[in-house]
Amino acid sequence: MNLSVKIANVELKNPVTTASGTFGSGKEYNEFVDLNQLGGIITKGVSNIPWVGNETPRVAETYGGMMNAVGLQNPGIEKFIQNDLSFLQGFETKVIVNVCGKTIEDYCDVVRRLADQPVHMLEINISCPNVKEGGLAFGTDAAMIEKVTKEVKKYAKQPIIMKLSPNVTDIAEMAKAAEAGGADAISLINTLLGMKIDIHKRQFGVANKVGGISGPAIKPIAVRMVYQVAKAVKLPIIGLGGIMTGEDAIEFLMAGATAISVGTANFANPTATIDVLNGIEEFMNKYGIKDINEIIGCM
Ligand SMILES: Cc1cc2nc3c(=O)[nH]c(=O)nc-3n(C[C@H](O)[C@H](O)[C@H](O)COP(=O)(O)O)c2cc1C
Repeated sequence: MNLSVKIANVELKNPVTTASGTFGSGKEYNEFVDLNQLGGIITKGVSNIPWVGNETPRVAETYGGMMNAVGLQNPGIEKFIQNDLSFLQGFETKVIVNVCGKTIEDYCDVVRRLADQPVHMLEINISCPNVKEGGLAFGTDAAMIEKVTKEVKKYAKQPIIMKLSPNVTDIAEMAKAAEAGGADAISLINTLLGMKIDIHKRQFGVANKVGGISGPAIKPIAVRMVYQVAKAVKLPIIGLGGIMTGEDAIEFLMAGATAISVGTANFANPTATIDVLNGIEEFMNKYGIKDINEIIGCM
């Protein structure tokens, strides 16, 4: 049985990766998951200087998922290279670093500093709903997506994956803008902008008032968007949004994703990534599928 897939000429041993911000850099999950079994590890977002993140509370439960407004707290690229990248070198998996920024220069700075590091691909987060500058302001404007993509490509030595926001009317237009800017791949979806109110305390669920909704509740939206993007561009796609099981993952692959990421599921079930991988294999056995590539984009 062949499970290996290719994203921008980088071969993943299987299509299962971790969604940025839900798996740290793998350290926190090392005791539950053999990281060598994963197709790739997509790290938490990293910026050029340390970010403190938003006020607490930063997370709240919602039906079939959760809301977060962490605000991309991270120690900055220098500490990340020392602590996280060095840790990841010990494993037989592909390392994909998620990059965040408040300005185009911020993104380029991080991309430049990672150019000679042992990193296989870069994922550019232009879709975080929880930071005021950068983030969503970039990810909901097609001209801006093309510009950010073009600029980071000037400094990147690794393939660039542009991570798209679902908080737009026409996702295909955003994907085409990333393709026009020279992106090597696309990942989607990031979280959907939401709000929760605690009616008893008359308080917002998260201090930021609005937050990103993730988990199984958003899966049908994510599958629809992956399908639309697969029809609109030639680039390989990493699909995510609410994947809990192998069958959920298969749905994304059939819609047109070449690989998938497991996010919120990790919080409820620390072995979710491996369970999804096993579920994919079970599905392939059941239907006599010899090569995972047979079903990619079959819809
Ligand atoms: C707590 C939390 C932190 C996140 N941090 C990041 C991040 O740093 N960078 C990023 O691109 N996406 C981030 N995301 C979005 C996820 O990577 C993913 O796109 C989204 O949650 C949808 O997938 P899921 O439903 O499987 O969680 C975060 C999501 C959560 C729940």
